[in-house]
Amino acid sequence: MTPVPVAVLVSGGGTNLQALLDALRDSAVARVTRVVASGADAGALERAQQAGVPTGVLAHPDDPDEVVTATGGARLVVLAGYLKRIPPAAVARLRWRVINIHPALLPAFGGPGMYGRRVHQAVLASGVALTGATVHYVDEEYDRGPIIAQWPVPVRPDDTPETLAARVLAVEHRLLPQVVMELVRLGVPEKPVRLSAKGSAFLTGDKLAVDLDNAADGRTGGRADC
Ligand code: GRF
Repeated sequence: MTPVPVAVLVSGGGTNLQALLDALRDSAVARVTRVVASGADAGALERAQQAGVPTGVLAHPDDPDEVVTATGGARLVVLAGYLKRIPPAAVARLRWRVINIHPALLPAFGGPGMYGRRVHQAVLASGVALTGATVHYVDEEYDRGPIIAQWPVPVRPDDTPETLAARVLAVEHRLLPQVVMELVRLGVPEKPVRLSAKGSAFLTGDKLAVDLDNAADGRTGGRADC
């Protein structure tokens, strides 16, 4: 079986990209086949090159044709710290095939300008007891597409934006590869799916689809009826 091609769009350092590269390296299910950056200064490009994955840099991230072409026919497109808006015409052509990871429990603490440290600052300023990571479909609005999966992270009284960011990022690195693997196993459905958390596991419909406790590295993902 040929692994399903996955393209990853990046703007920054690419630790989520690294989690995907590591989890999918030997996978028969999915493989990162292309990494596309919004600018040549994205540190993530070096991670891709180290892993031997072809890279591209968008000259015009607002050009839908360029964005779609850059994904190189990937079945699934993952935004992993990608800061540009996907042009609506590209969203329409790639509908339900583009996902994004966000470092908070959407729909809270998302939207234009809500990225990086600002998200965690806003979380702390609000006084909420719980934050986390969200993987969602990309639609025409920032951080607004249907939610696929979330993983909560408790806020501690002594948290700073940095300590909170680090704990959320660690969760992102586990959540994102699991969701990618599960979507690919489901055939990248053409309608939105929701992976619901149950304890430390996800449910797809009434089937246990992803057992996070037993699948921390993304390769040993367990499946069981429940
Ligand atoms: C992550 O927190 C992700 O949720 C957000 O941007 C950050 C990217 O970090 N969209 P990295 O480049 O993957 O290290």
